[in-house]
Amino acid sequence: MSTTLTHCQCKEMSEEEKFRLLGEIIEEYEKKENNLIQILHMAQAVFGFLPSEVQKFIAKEMDIPLSKVSGVITFYSFFSTEPKGEYTIRVCLGTACYVRGGKKIVERLKEILGIEVGETTKDLKFSLEVMRCIGACGLAPAIGINDKVYKQVNPDKLERILGKYE
Ligand code: FES
Repeated sequence: MSTTLTHCQCKEMSEEEKFRLLGEIIEEYEKKENNLIQILHMAQAVFGFLPSEVQKFIAKEMDIPLSKVSGVITFYSFFSTEPKGEYTIRVCLGTACYVRGGKKIVERLKEILGIEVGETTKDLKFSLEVMRCIGACGLAPAIGINDKVYKQVNPDKLERILGKYE
């Protein structure tokens, strides 16, 4: 497999180029239904999310029903049909973080960003999600912003943390 995508390509390519690349990816995966999840991962890396026109393209190219494609996307929470923010904030609500105030962190972030969990700010800067255990239980509560983990967070620290991404 020669096509490697590790980050969102959405800002650097035209729509036409993205669909051409997706076509190549599908060819590389030999249009096999068993490879649908990998193809969807790559498609999300190319487009940033999986809108209906991308789903239709995949279904047509792979010669499988659209309902199969949309069913897989709906089943796995890591696939999104809405545009995601440049930065995804994941608040840990695993047991250690929950008991040490994870819920208050979610509430404060909702206030600061003006969005609910699962939503993205209008400027497409931040998406807000919750998750179960980020692997920093000893220093709970923790949040992740893209690949970076912040430990021993409290609601008063959040504006300063987000300021780093402005
Ligand atoms: S429960 Fe939050 S890091 Fe483990």
